[in-house]
Amino acid sequence: MNNTIYEKPIIKKLQTGFMNKFGTGVFKRIRKDIDGVAIDRLVEQFGSPLFVFSEKKLRGNYRKLYNAFSNRYPNVLFGWSYKTNYLDAICSTLHQEGAIAEVVSEYEYRKAKRLGIDGKNIIYNGPFKTIESLKEAAEDGAMINIDHFEEIQDLENVAKELNKKIKAGIRVNMDTGIVPQWSRFGFNIESGQAFDAVKRISYGGHLILNGLHCHIGTFILEPNAYSQEVKKMVEFAYKVEDEFGYKIEYLDIGGGFPSKNRLKGVYLPPEVVVPSIDEFAEAVCDTLLENLRPNDFPKLILETGRAIVDEAGYLITTVHAIKRLPDGTRSYIIDAGVNILFTSFWYKFNIEMDREVSGTAEPSVIYGPLCMNIDVIDESVNLPPLERGTRLIISPVGAYNVTQWMQFIMYRPSVCIISEKGEPLLIREKEDLEDITKLEILPEEYELKK
Ligand SMILES: Cc1ncc(COP(=O)(O)O)c(C=O)c1O
Repeated sequence: MNNTIYEKPIIKKLQTGFMNKFGTGVFKRIRKDIDGVAIDRLVEQFGSPLFVFSEKKLRGNYRKLYNAFSNRYPNVLFGWSYKTNYLDAICSTLHQEGAIAEVVSEYEYRKAKRLGIDGKNIIYNGPFKTIESLKEAAEDGAMINIDHFEEIQDLENVAKELNKKIKAGIRVNMDTGIVPQWSRFGFNIESGQAFDAVKRISYGGHLILNGLHCHIGTFILEPNAYSQEVKKMVEFAYKVEDEFGYKIEYLDIGGGFPSKNRLKGVYLPPEVVVPSIDEFAEAVCDTLLENLRPNDFPKLILETGRAIVDEAGYLITTVHAIKRLPDGTRSYIIDAGVNILFTSFWYKFNIEMDREVSGTAEPSVIYGPLCMNIDVIDESVNLPPLERGTRLIISPVGAYNVTQWMQFIMYRPSVCIISEKGEPLLIREKEDLEDITKLEILPEEYELKK
């Protein structure tokens, strides 16, 4: 029998307003496995911290989203948003499901091609496209969405050089009721800027406008915002078709649907706050069908990132130390911090333990391993007294973390996927000193003398 560890009693002032009206309760969030593979086994095999992806969840989410739209509209295509998660194994799985690639930089463009994606199946977005990459994309027949007037000029120069007319779309932005409005990308509809961009393209004569693209924001909780977006895009498409004779072949409405994550400061759980994907699909497809002309079904493109991959990702971490802060708050230092969990600045994650723990739960802070004051994963989570070595499983973390993570103070950890057969497979190795230092150059005059 294990002896319980003696903990010095403390008296702590209760602050009204911070009280949980349901009481402290018993902490019941236990997770002993992910898709049937024991947490212990995963850590033994790949170490801690460890990102774990579930193939089952990933494919399941993709199919749920794709079906929600394709059951309501006849011409639907999904572009996988690389920046949300561009690990090869994740992209490949979604390409196997039928998604093409959506990229926002030369790097991402090349990464998609390296994976075997034909340029024709790449949507090239973003505000910073190099001339070389525009040329490559134009030669490949990629779907290029122009972001600004300089890019119209750049693409015209490419067209002149290649001696051919290039088909391209433009990105537009608009008021859909979402605050803050994402107005820095593309051309604004309400101000007439988008119309001016089309005029400019028509005047240049080297490009053929064939699509419209828009992305209104991320973690959008309001389906009606998508109705507004679609309505304005369709109206604008017909205006352009009628006045300039172009045919708008696709309406790319971007991404932005929320995952079942919990924004900081939101009291109600995601199950209550986050609308279902069917509500979004209905808003989009009903508005399309109400506003499109008879027998006109332009391709509806979606670039959903977060809603597909976020819930497929977990992070296994380990409690390294336990500390009482001077005000009596219990705190823990774990082996994963904001360096690998960038989204912890906005989201309050679900935190589960790998074992039953007895004792009274109390609001605790979870710190990461960095020697930085901002390295806080959760400012207050109700936890029973944990001991060193306890594993905490943090979710959902599949979106934007393994792309926005940074190599800072610590090595980046391994990433694995649990296949549908229940087999854990390594998909990215943890870094070591050589990986990090191999790009550095020490000129001879800076070498330390023996
Ligand atoms: C152009 C574009 N498409 C798609 C996405 C994916 O968005 P989300 O992950 O919110 O679905 C983003 C993300 O910011 C984006 O900028």
